[in-house]
Amino acid sequence: MIHGLRAQRLLGALCLAIATACGSGPTEPDDTGFSPPPSNPDTIPLRQLAQQRGIRIGSAVDAGFRYTGSQGTLFRAKLAREFSMLTPENDMKHASIHPARDTYRFGPADSLVTFAEANGMQVRGHTLVWHQQLASWLTNGTWTTAETRTLLDDHIRTVVEHYKGRLVAWDVVNEPFNDNGGMRSGFWFDRLGEAYIEQAFRAANVADPQAKLFLVDYNIEGINAKSDSAYALVSRLLARGVPVHGIALQGHFQVGTVPPTLAANIARFAALGLRIHIAELDVRIQLPSTTATLQQQANDYRDVFAACLTTTACEAVVAWGLTDRESWVPSTFPGWGEPMLFTGSFDPKPAFFAIYQLLK
Ligand code: XIL
Repeated sequence: MIHGLRAQRLLGALCLAIATACGSGPTEPDDTGFSPPPSNPDTIPLRQLAQQRGIRIGSAVDAGFRYTGSQGTLFRAKLAREFSMLTPENDMKHASIHPARDTYRFGPADSLVTFAEANGMQVRGHTLVWHQQLASWLTNGTWTTAETRTLLDDHIRTVVEHYKGRLVAWDVVNEPFNDNGGMRSGFWFDRLGEAYIEQAFRAANVADPQAKLFLVDYNIEGINAKSDSAYALVSRLLARGVPVHGIALQGHFQVGTVPPTLAANIARFAALGLRIHIAELDVRIQLPSTTATLQQQANDYRDVFAACLTTTACEAVVAWGLTDRESWVPSTFPGWGEPMLFTGSFDPKPAFFAIYQLLK
């Protein structure tokens, strides 16, 4: 299977080198490297092009997935047509899936996993341990250190066992660092120190030995103090035999800021034997967008996918949403928006065609 994928990626690279032999893209690129949308809207699904290059392309979903009526039908059809990987944007987070100490609420995430399986999509579990979106019964409680350890183990064991064998990857620890590279303060770190990280990976690995386990953060896409800390931490964990299998770079970018060191950074994590996922890609634009900023966004998306294609260790690129309409960006970063591949009416944007062209 792996070998097949690698062979396919090699073939894809060859096709890129001799484009005419494998069929050219929708239109020829102009001198900026960008091709205008093809006049024929019957594009090949992105997931198929991605598969030919040996990667998965994913989308994170939440409210859009549950739209009713024709919007819902369109949303789910687009999701299944274009993407081969799915991440629950919120449904597996602590507050959502574990609303009371003895109550787990698996229903919403179960629907996503069932949908993914029915449509040949892999699922990334997101996320077991984070400093945000923790249930208030947990954060408001008074716990001894021993109780806190038990709470961490219980949560991970119960959630990971519930999905055992069905998820390809888990984001085990999300956002453990400050931007200066120090360890971030939060519920788990403040009570258990850095040891919470090792405990979490070990517990997840016992609960589902097949799932690949990831450490995740933002602003670790390029080489900088924060990604140096991530590199040092996973190196320490690996040296102690902790089951860390991958590093996930979130990839929430402002337009025009994809770091030029992205590919080099991916390479150094790959050299540790880790898998790499770009797990939460979006490229936000200051509103109103212009032809120029949408074009820059297309280049940014293209650059991220191109960096992933530089090594077989980079297995997947997941967009943090499907259309501009559901994205978390407008409500989180006032004045910014339109970060996804599709408009709110499901129309493909220049970024879609840039990826299409690159993968084709
Ligand atoms: C965001 C979701 O997109 C929002 O819907 C939610 O309100 C807050 O969380 N890094 C992460 C994601 O790891 O879980 C966050 O998702 C975005 C930043």
